[in-house]
Amino acid sequence: MTRKHTRIMGVVAALAAATLALSSCGSDDGGNDGGTDGGTSNSAGQVEVFTWWASGSEKLGLDALVEVFNTRHPDVEFVNGAVAGGAGSAAKDLLQSRLQTNDPPDTFQAHAGAELTDYINAAQIEDVSDLYEEFELTEAFPEDLISRLTVDDKIYSIPSNIHRANMTWANPTVLTEAGLDPTATYATLDEWFPALDAVQATGKTPLSIATTWTQVHLLETVLLSALGDEAYSGLWDGTTDWNSPEVTAALEDFEKLMSYTNTDRDGLDWPDATQQVIDGQAAFNVMGDWAVAAFEEAGQEAETDFIYFPVPGTDGVFDFLADSFTLPVGAPNADGAKAWLETVGSLEGQTAFNQAKGSIPARTDADPADFSEYQQTAITSFADDTIVSSLAHGAATPVATLNAITDATSKFTSGGSDLASFQSELAAAAGSGS
Ligand code: GAL
Repeated sequence: MTRKHTRIMGVVAALAAATLALSSCGSDDGGNDGGTDGGTSNSAGQVEVFTWWASGSEKLGLDALVEVFNTRHPDVEFVNGAVAGGAGSAAKDLLQSRLQTNDPPDTFQAHAGAELTDYINAAQIEDVSDLYEEFELTEAFPEDLISRLTVDDKIYSIPSNIHRANMTWANPTVLTEAGLDPTATYATLDEWFPALDAVQATGKTPLSIATTWTQVHLLETVLLSALGDEAYSGLWDGTTDWNSPEVTAALEDFEKLMSYTNTDRDGLDWPDATQQVIDGQAAFNVMGDWAVAAFEEAGQEAETDFIYFPVPGTDGVFDFLADSFTLPVGAPNADGAKAWLETVGSLEGQTAFNQAKGSIPARTDADPADFSEYQQTAITSFADDTIVSSLAHGAATPVATLNAITDATSKFTSGGSDLASFQSELAAAAGSGS
């Protein structure tokens, strides 16, 4: 059956179910979590969900959410519109061309924060404030998160999770072989460099990394470490001078860290870089906490098989990003999309998804005991630490700025520019999207 036919049948079914649906709309987690219908049930047909969670541990996270969706909305068929490429490196461009040709998916993944404002300014996504009322979400999410999703008193997406970007993952066996104490943590990048030298001497890769977006991810954490949280945040609101000597020093640290990385990096994506730590080819990997799901998928145990700590010099700071789901303007099956959004916002959906994804629920009523030891540290850190916005994951800047920073970074790390040109290109890039 074609998608169009399915949709027409879906409309018929939806009409037939309308009376029933009206009476069940507005249900919430409190009363309905164990049931099969958690919200809008006047939807049917197919719902195309566009993400970049196409494989590995990310796909397992999506699968867990789909499983909950299928129980809550058995009348809607999930269609996987995932496009491979970590951090949406391929998906975001494809999505943009689909939106521009009026061919939106029914719902798509977007980061909370500045990235969302791109879609809002282009009138590509709907205000979903009504759904916050209908699904009783306003009290379920932290106020600070809601404000990052709100523009002019309207809320444009429903968050599925919160990730921490400033994490280091390490293989304790490789560290021990290099004569290092695997329980050591490093207060600054300067304290960390000798450990990287020690691994280098063993012939293993000190710091594994992958393609450009992961290099931008490393750059963001180095800026945070070297500048501190206030000056780091100032990079995005114009109060920190990109041409300052402090930024030069941070870029020197970045250049030094890049010298410890694997040379095949540009052909790899994040799972390959994390895998090098899992396999004992590399000692450290700086990556967001979706990495913990990759260690778990490989059957590894925290503390024994892998260890983690905040990127040196960033303890006490939570470098924040959140995935969220939208209702695109002109979504072919808006009711199906609402059913998906209902599942995304539900306690049951957030619990199942985040258990598999490594992130923490955006909802504040989730039970920490349902999550891993690592996730419990993230829950505490998110509650107690200073929160800053991730650059590489759409929280800090509009997409145009991130793209310009990404181009400058790729040029620098592939030998196409020196540090001074890199710094002035970054300064120019930071002004490009605002
Ligand atoms: C981030 C996204 C995460 C994770 C990561 C790697 O942008 O928010 O959920 O998927 O990319 O692909």
